[in-house]
Amino acid sequence: MTGPLLKVENLTKHYPLGAGILKKTIPVVRAVEDVSFSVEAGETLCIVGESGCGKSTVARLLMRLAEPTAGRVLIDGTDIAGLKKHELRAWRRRMQMVFQDPYSSLNPRLTAGQIITEPVENFEPLSWKQRKALAAELLQQVGMSPQMMDRLPSELSGGQRQRLGIARALALQPALIIADEAVSALDVSVQAQILNLLLDLQQQMGIAFVFISHDLGVVEHIGHRVAVMYLGRIVELAPCEALFAKPVHPYTEALIVAAPVPDPTRVRLAAPVDGEVPSPVNPPRGCAFHPRCPLAVERCRIEVPPLVPMADGRVVACHVRAPAQPEVAVSARPPPVAEPHSSGLF
Ligand SMILES: Nc1ncnc2c1ncn2[C@@H]1O[C@H](COP(=O)(O)OP(=O)(O)O)[C@@H](O)[C@H]1O
Ligand code: SF4
Ligand SMILES: [Mg+2]
Repeated sequence: MTGPLLKVENLTKHYPLGAGILKKTIPVVRAVEDVSFSVEAGETLCIVGESGCGKSTVARLLMRLAEPTAGRVLIDGTDIAGLKKHELRAWRRRMQMVFQDPYSSLNPRLTAGQIITEPVENFEPLSWKQRKALAAELLQQVGMSPQMMDRLPSELSGGQRQRLGIARALALQPALIIADEAVSALDVSVQAQILNLLLDLQQQMGIAFVFISHDLGVVEHIGHRVAVMYLGRIVELAPCEALFAKPVHPYTEALIVAAPVPDPTRVRLAAPVDGEVPSPVNPPRGCAFHPRCPLAVERCRIEVPPLVPMADGRVVACHVRAPAQPEVAVSARPPPVAEPHSSGLF
């Protein structure tokens, strides 16, 4: 296979608010705006940002649980929007999801064994013996005893329930798992165990993750690359180490300043920004971060900053910290064919 496992191009999702019978224009929630990224096999791409910035909407669009307003999602180079029903079924085996709240995402009337073997049985019938063997294997893979297979979700701890959610996602041997706030509801010590389990599974099975979290500490532990979202847009996408060592976008910087610092030798940057995230129904013109940004200049109030590639491999959308190169006005050679700003940068 050539090319990335997952490629997201200019993904946009607007939710209309009301029917707007009497109004000419229906107001919309701009949940996701022009988001582009790719994920390689065996890689973890984290998506981080404050509540409401569009992270879960991206996850839903990737899983085709919602239809995009614009943009494309490609798996192994195939646009999932064009898949027929049987092709979609096959594709669903490649991509699985782990949710934040394992309790509400697990059927309370099914046993652990039934829950984790159900995805396989949706594709092929299993004998009683096969089902037991598969349940035992999956439970062991997520560090649980096979004896747990007869327990109901209510008889398990929060950490065990999340392990069960992961086992269910593993059942179809996916190439990619999308984990939306998968450890956010757990105690810190259990969080660490689950994150280490995901890292082990990635090493053993080469699974790629899109790992969504509002918690930078978690992201730093697990990510290869990190996309920072603000009000529906990616504002910085960088290798994990580079992002934490030297955030470039003022919002990334503010998030890192606001996060608890586990390493006391790490130097704090400037002060965290004040103010609330604006409404995605009526986002500020220009750079959506400008009302809160200490570096804002006039241009920020007018023009949306494009994502600009930096020398260290990251992309940043900021007029001040990553100004776009001015276009060459006169050239003897024909200009290159214009492409969406996302292509080739991620
Ligand atoms: N089905 C929906 N209808 C209308 N607005 C929605 C819907 N789902 C999400 N939103 C809005 O889209 C924005 C992004 O939400 P979400 O993707 O859940 O953010 P996050 O996961 O980062 O907290 C929020 O303003 C949210 O209220
Ligand atoms: S574009 Fe302007 S307002 Fe936006 S982050 Fe950069 S400096 Fe701040
Ligand atoms: Mg969410």
